[in-house]
Amino acid sequence: MACAWDFQFRVLLLGDSGVGKSALLLRYTEDVFADAPTHTVGVDFCSQEEEPEPGVRVRLQFWDTAGQERYRAVTRSYYRNAAAVVLLFDLTARRSFESIPEWHREVRERVCPLPLRFLLLGTKSDLRGQRGVTREEAQGMADALEAPYLETSARTGSNVRAALSLLCRELHRAACAGEYTPRGGWSGVPPAPLGGVETQEKQRRRCTC
Ligand code: GTP
Ligand code: MG
Repeated sequence: MACAWDFQFRVLLLGDSGVGKSALLLRYTEDVFADAPTHTVGVDFCSQEEEPEPGVRVRLQFWDTAGQERYRAVTRSYYRNAAAVVLLFDLTARRSFESIPEWHREVRERVCPLPLRFLLLGTKSDLRGQRGVTREEAQGMADALEAPYLETSARTGSNVRAALSLLCRELHRAACAGEYTPRGGWSGVPPAPLGGVETQEKQRRRCTC
């Protein structure tokens, strides 16, 4: 029996507490929205499969980190060897937008060697009347970080799939262009933070199927 995917990429979600990292992933993986705030403790793990082009199966493996400062030492230990980082801020909370350069700097200092793909997301776009960051400002930040920018809503689902599918296509393209080299192995059991991308051939050596 063949393995279930051709590539897998590790994707880190970073941003201040409450910006909606967990809600975004819940919408993406289960197509549901939870109103009640539930702070992530340390790091949560989930995955989703995508088909960036017909017949190519990609598994995105997400590390959903806690934004609360008290978990920073734990979450930092997961930065290493990620293939991509999604930086999130809440469109209604300007402070979370102002934190983005700090999150970016922090991950760049700790993930070595690059290349790392970044994606910038402004969340809670459904709360139109409460907006505290303009699209132009956010696009300016994204340009400075050399990252695509999208505005998403986990509540309505707007742009959630589009954003993560865009990231998946870019990772697949980069892997095919030889811009990633698999580093280390991956046991498939979280939380071991090893290896940014792994091809099916490499995975087959570990796979029991
Ligand atoms: P930490 O785990 O503490 O880092 O927070 P988080 O970034 O994972 O935030 P979480 O996903 O728990 O969301 C925080 C709150 O924002 C919750 O009450 C969510 O229901 C709410 N929320 C998240 N996404 C949206 C959205 O798109 N629209 C609206 N209106 N609320 C949202
Ligand atoms: Mg969370």
